[in-house]
Amino acid sequence: MKKNDKVLIFDTTLRDGEQAPGATMNQAEKLEIAFALERLGVDIIEAGFAISSKGDFDSVQNIAKHIKKSTVCSLARSLPKDIDAAADAIKPAKNGRIHIFLATSKIHLEHKFKKSQDQILDMAISAVKYARKRCDNLEFSPEDASRTEKEFLYRVLEAVIKAGATTVNIPDTVGYSTPAEYGAVIAGIMNHVPNINKAIISTHCHDDLGLAVANSLAGVVNGARQVECTINGIGERAGNASMEEIVMAIRTRKDFYSLDTNINAKEFYRISRMVSKATGFIVPPNKAIVGANAFRHESGIHQDGVLKEKRTYEIMDAESVGVPPNEGLVLGKHSGRHAFTNRLKVLNIHLSDADTDKAFARFKDLADKKKEIYDEDLIAIAEDEGHLVAEIYTLMDYHVTSGTKVAPEVNITLKYKGKKIVKKSTGDGPVDACYKAIEKATSLKIQLMDYGIQSVSQGEDALGEVKVKAVVEGKTVMGRGASTDIIEASAKAYVNAVNNYLAQSQK
Ligand code: KIV
Ligand code: ZN
Repeated sequence: MKKNDKVLIFDTTLRDGEQAPGATMNQAEKLEIAFALERLGVDIIEAGFAISSKGDFDSVQNIAKHIKKSTVCSLARSLPKDIDAAADAIKPAKNGRIHIFLATSKIHLEHKFKKSQDQILDMAISAVKYARKRCDNLEFSPEDASRTEKEFLYRVLEAVIKAGATTVNIPDTVGYSTPAEYGAVIAGIMNHVPNINKAIISTHCHDDLGLAVANSLAGVVNGARQVECTINGIGERAGNASMEEIVMAIRTRKDFYSLDTNINAKEFYRISRMVSKATGFIVPPNKAIVGANAFRHESGIHQDGVLKEKRTYEIMDAESVGVPPNEGLVLGKHSGRHAFTNRLKVLNIHLSDADTDKAFARFKDLADKKKEIYDEDLIAIAEDEGHLVAEIYTLMDYHVTSGTKVAPEVNITLKYKGKKIVKKSTGDGPVDACYKAIEKATSLKIQLMDYGIQSVSQGEDALGEVKVKAVVEGKTVMGRGASTDIIEASAKAYVNAVNNYLAQSQK
């Protein structure tokens, strides 16, 4: 493979991904995701937008302190105060990058800035020169590049490269482009920007028309050697290009692309779940690569074909992207702790001893209720017990009465600092009654914003996984809980959201 046959992967889950409405993540979750991105082999992690809030600044700085292999990047507008904040935040990083952006399309110039092309060009050059004094690794994005007049785009790119930009990113900011068109933009840059060999061209495509991955790949075919993307494709509005799809397209169709990345694809399944857990965005079952059905065959003809020869209906190995094998009983009622911890190891799950004890107790409990225990069940239990935050409140018990002619009523018991708190409440349904009782028990003002439920594995007795987004005392937090009983899973998710809030406010 030749030198420039590597496509660099720039992950922006923690910046553009977090811009998805409702995807706010806390600092601990962001750091955990950053570690997972590093394990995945991501070349550049865009950790946040340092100037946008103190929380973002601290989070970028925290990630910069801990991440050693991947380059840590902060976004900045083309303003000295933004560039300073970005430079300060990435200062502890072993390898840092500043990413500055400035809109260049006519529509943005006329309506957003009320500035001429020459004024924008000057701003871009000054910003790049200013930023280069603080960081050698510098990326410049002409925002809305795909709708920018070509001649002006070429002028801007040539000037920023001359001023010191080492990567030039070409955003399809509003997801308007088509693959042929976007590919032609990159080809045009390759042919018309005289000093383009001094910089790496990057793609950054949004998914408003469902074309983000196709556009990014068209960019790569035409010479881009960095792709900006997110886990599960989350991002502003309809999202960004999904990393797992891009990487697996390049890898599976090596015969076509003749390219590769540094990504260890076996980590995809795990990180996809981690991001889903932190954001509360459920991965659709039909999502390519990481969806629950991505490697399942339902039709008899397909099953027959796969049994005879896998390649009849499978273009990738599920295990190559870290999907646990879904057939067969993994563990059962009689499995001991050794088998349990071994299986966690196989699944690449690492828990502290205390969390392993709790997870094992949960597993035994589940094995009593559920005939078959799948890897997905173990992952859900481990995610439940591998707490990133201390369990300040614990759900001990609940009792519900409900029916078509009976008003739902719940008695809930929480443990708090070693003491039991028992509260009763009615509600519009059993889950609502539970949530009102939890609100009473914690004496916190809690408002449920979003609720999602998904079955974790197969069968009637599958674990149900509930994800909630709630505003606790004015702060938006996520919560997650799993159980074979969906009311219990719902209550656990709400208590988890309360604990996340308390952990954040204690900080
Ligand atoms: O979509 C976009 O244009 C962006 C830039 C800040 C790179 O996210
Ligand atoms: Zn974007």
